[in-house]
Amino acid sequence: MSGALAGIELCVFDAYGTLFDFNSAVARHRTVIGPSADTLSDLWRSKQIQYTWLRNGMGAYAEFWQVTGEALDHCLAVHGITDPSVRQTLMGAYLALDPFPEVQAMLESLRRAGKRLAILSNGNPAMLAPMVAACGLADRFEAVLSVDEVSVFKPDPKVYRLVEARCGVKPDRVCFLSSNCWDAHGAAHFGFQTVWVNRARAPDDGLPGRLSGQIEDLSFLPALLGVS
Ligand code: LAC
Repeated sequence: MSGALAGIELCVFDAYGTLFDFNSAVARHRTVIGPSADTLSDLWRSKQIQYTWLRNGMGAYAEFWQVTGEALDHCLAVHGITDPSVRQTLMGAYLALDPFPEVQAMLESLRRAGKRLAILSNGNPAMLAPMVAACGLADRFEAVLSVDEVSVFKPDPKVYRLVEARCGVKPDRVCFLSSNCWDAHGAAHFGFQTVWVNRARAPDDGLPGRLSGQIEDLSFLPALLGVS
């Protein structure tokens, strides 16, 4: 852990990869896919994110659900998987991803300390709502904000502006948390106090935006905020 946070009113979490484990979709159906399951999961995530950046560049927004499906179609083609039930099964699993193991306890300790909590995600509401509800976390967040409101993906600043517009908190009073290094830099460049949840212990990306801290998983967040 490194860095220090001050004057935080609201913690805003990225969803996929930060609160929810996108690998859990494929992990649950590993036997259907076979030995290439992990490679397929990695490629699915990387194509999904690549497509959001490319769509931003083209000015061609589409819901994250569609982008996720298009990324999966590419991966299934790469792996020569033609059975349509595999696509259906994996997309279904994406609506009920597992939260990371430390998430419930971390949210509970922030709630007890009276911290305000929200989600800001590329996911469209029809994806986010069932996932948050499926693990019983819906009442933890005062807002589940989606890029769908502004029809552009992260790291466009219009996305990060949604937090002040909807929650009424100035950027320098927001602690933003993402396991996606590029999202963390986008948020820090925008003006949030930003903590990178570096689950993979990866080297930092050379991007604009100074990070306020770095933690290995979200169990370290309460201490960083001075909450026991
Ligand atoms: C999200 C992706 C970037 O939830 O993880 O916005």
